Amino acid sequence: MQSMPLNIPADADKAIVWTNDRLYLLDQRVLPTQETYLELQTAAATADAIHDMVVRGAPAIGVTAAFGVVLAARESYQSHGSAWKEGVTTGMDRLAASRPTAVNLFWALERMQGVISGLDTGDPEPRLLQEAKQIHEEDVASCRRLGDLGAELIESTTSVITHCNAGALATGGYGTALGVIRSAWADGKIERVYADETRPWLQGSRLTAWELHKDDIPVTLITDGAAACRMQTGGIGWIIVGSDRIAANGDVANKIGTYSLVVAAKHHGIKVMVAAPTSTIDMSAASGSEIPIESRDPVEVLNCGGKRLGAPGVDAWNPVFDVTPAELVDVIVTEKGIVHSPNMKKISEMMAS
Ligand code: MRU
Repeated sequence: MQSMPLNIPADADKAIVWTNDRLYLLDQRVLPTQETYLELQTAAATADAIHDMVVRGAPAIGVTAAFGVVLAARESYQSHGSAWKEGVTTGMDRLAASRPTAVNLFWALERMQGVISGLDTGDPEPRLLQEAKQIHEEDVASCRRLGDLGAELIESTTSVITHCNAGALATGGYGTALGVIRSAWADGKIERVYADETRPWLQGSRLTAWELHKDDIPVTLITDGAAACRMQTGGIGWIIVGSDRIAANGDVANKIGTYSLVVAAKHHGIKVMVAAPTSTIDMSAASGSEIPIESRDPVEVLNCGGKRLGAPGVDAWNPVFDVTPAELVDVIVTEKGIVHSPNMKKISEMMAS
């Protein structure tokens, strides 16, 4: 991965950029203090960038993986010529192994594989690039659509709490949870957004606060532990979050801490909205117990800002997602529609629509 100056200012809506036949990713590990794009030249480098959190957020991981397949095909065509299909699998396997929970990754790889299957022995890049660009554009359109649908559910002006970053940075652009918040803000329905800081990667304080502040949407940062207290204080109408994978029965995997946030919301009678494109719904997982939950290096918990703060000799547990049971979710909003009190029947019907 090379750090490359790109001739555009860093922008949450341009976290993933394909230009001059190259893939650039806004390095989300160093936001907001540095706004740097990295240039990716190979599928392996793209897989590493996903694993290392240069790009993160379920839909953004899917879009990036699609461009990663274009790079895999380019590499393979350069080395194998007309036998390029033999080599492309290696790159795709690397991409598939980058992170396990966000199903959008596997959804995008499957879609690219579908295109590969229909191609002949000629240069695969133009057709695969067209598909990757289409996946990117469709994701932005889905976010805009579900953002508007979710905003309609907010009846009167209120404050909301969000967790992690489910914004433009986490998607092709616009965002899922932040898409709803953007649309609701445009409709005059948002008083203030409380952003959980989201330990250990601090996606809330580094990314969500950066995005919302740039858009002049009032945002206040809270520690994850302050969310229940903020609900108790009053004035919170909704909890709005994204998802990494939604099971067929409506169980929702999302950033660690979402489950406890939702449990607290239920105690306070606050409604919970999960905003996600249908590429996040995994109909092959009957319930949340079938969703693979990524565990990352304990050092991410023991350290903060690159500095060891945990007591010497102490271990840490670092599951990075949790599963919120469907019965605690009031509504799932996708680009295809709204599912109230989600269950398998309602989700199947929405997916088939
Ligand atoms: O570990 P991350 O930063 O990839 O986790 C991201 C989240 O949990 C988001 O809430 C989720 O992907 C939804 S993004 C629209």
